[in-house]
Amino acid sequence: MRVKLITPDSAHARAWAQALQGESAIVLTTLEQSVREVNAIVNGNRPDLLVVETPGPEDFLALEQLAFAHPEVDILLIAPDRDPEFLLRAMRAGVREVLPAPVSPEALLAALRRQLRKQAGAAPQPAASHGKLLAVVSCKGGSGATFVAANLAHLLAAGGRRRVALIDMNLQFGDAALFLSSQTPPSHVADVARNIARLDAELLRSAMSEVGPGLWVLAAPDDPAQATDVTPLQVCAILQQAQESFDYVVVDVGRSLTALSLQVLDLADQVLAVLQLTLPFIRDGKRLREVFRSLDYPADKIHWVVNRYQKDGQFSIEDLKRTLDISRVSTLPNHYAAVAAAVNQGLPVNTIAPSSSIARALRELSDRIAPPPAAAAPRGWLGGLFRGASA
Ligand SMILES: Nc1ncnc2c1ncn2[C@@H]1O[C@H](COP(=O)(O)OP(=O)(O)OP(=O)(O)O)[C@@H](O)[C@H]1O
Ligand SMILES: [Mg+2]
Repeated sequence: MRVKLITPDSAHARAWAQALQGESAIVLTTLEQSVREVNAIVNGNRPDLLVVETPGPEDFLALEQLAFAHPEVDILLIAPDRDPEFLLRAMRAGVREVLPAPVSPEALLAALRRQLRKQAGAAPQPAASHGKLLAVVSCKGGSGATFVAANLAHLLAAGGRRRVALIDMNLQFGDAALFLSSQTPPSHVADVARNIARLDAELLRSAMSEVGPGLWVLAAPDDPAQATDVTPLQVCAILQQAQESFDYVVVDVGRSLTALSLQVLDLADQVLAVLQLTLPFIRDGKRLREVFRSLDYPADKIHWVVNRYQKDGQFSIEDLKRTLDISRVSTLPNHYAAVAAAVNQGLPVNTIAPSSSIARALRELSDRIAPPPAAAAPRGWLGGLFRGASA
């Protein structure tokens, strides 16, 4: 557990840090500053738990703001105030526990051990097998990220020779399921998140639609209001469960950078960043490239994909490479007729127009991400539950 300790009192900082030294499960960083002067969560360096001492009301106000801005981080508060109204306010801000100041090193250690036990209970079990996680992110709305994610998932399934999950993490206005099927999904991401304590392979499967051989979709909720309840920890558990059950997990991350989407990007083995070759996309692509750098993602984690590519456009691939300072770019051609037909029928483009240039380019992209599997029966470890369920 990564713990960040923030207190303006250096004697407290020293005593507490010393008490936590022997705890191997805790990686501690200490900031001897008031929380007013600290942006505790920068550069993707998000702690699992913040321990914050707020000696005065201004400090508490700053903590409240921090807590509202980062609901994904658990907070343990050390404050002199004990009246119920204050405690209620702290709890409303999402504080896990309030320790009344002054706090002895032993009391802090005991509180952290409590949090450790809680987190261990909530954390998903390590995966028995590990499917690859591909996050498809859009530099800007309408780039075609969902089309790419859905069609890539379909091609990776290779007619049932691999097990692939498409998960729609556009929790507010997700439409990925509709790109592959017109079935009504049995459930959705927010519903699985609500039942996270019972999450296992069977629960996940029952929430997904089987939309083709080896291809399963976990849809986004219909009601955008449901998106707000889903936490990054739940997303992490869902993805890890999916990686246990599938060879490839393709996540449509969409275009927003939130605690949830950052969680997906962090966990991803590969990120496909989809853009088009026009100035607004290139501009936002550059911003996204900066975000990836600030998160310390290695360059080979990111696969840039230019969608709706036309050779006679105003900008060339070389322009893009130079502007974004990247070396590897894949292109997918603009093909209105084939894509519109596929999208309107809710079918993969490789199914309805396999000889089109866009289907061909998507097959190449899929082969680059995963070499085509040998034409053999599904692998043993996938057999059990999923195969039984889909028979
Ligand atoms: N290669 C292509 N050629 C022609 N049209 C395309 C291509 N790719 C996508 N489109 C069209 O662009 C539209 C938008 O695509 P899509 O919904 O996948 O974008 P998105 O990035 O997911 O958008 P949003 O930001 O709304 O989630 C699709 O309806 C499709 O018709
Ligand atoms: Mg989309």
